[in-house]
Amino acid sequence: MNDRNTCTCHNISIDDFRSACQSGAHNVKTCFKTIGCLPKCNNCIPMVRSVLAEFSERALPVQTEAAIPVATSNASHQ
Ligand code: FES
Repeated sequence: MNDRNTCTCHNISIDDFRSACQSGAHNVKTCFKTIGCLPKCNNCIPMVRSVLAEFSERALPVQTEAAIPVATSNASHQ
């Protein structure tokens, strides 16, 4: 399933990312960290960036995808 409003790797909704931003997350990395995981495939990054844009007053320059840590297959969800 390809849901543009969900991180399908972790089943995280766009509202979960909004909540992370409301809790102070200010870039892609801190959004995932606030929720307790790391991006896997990065397919949801554009959606996360759109959420960050909603909170642009607090958003800092967004990292490039190359700089975003990606969980390895052996990493456990935190
Ligand atoms: S869809 Fe979010 S990391 Fe894969």
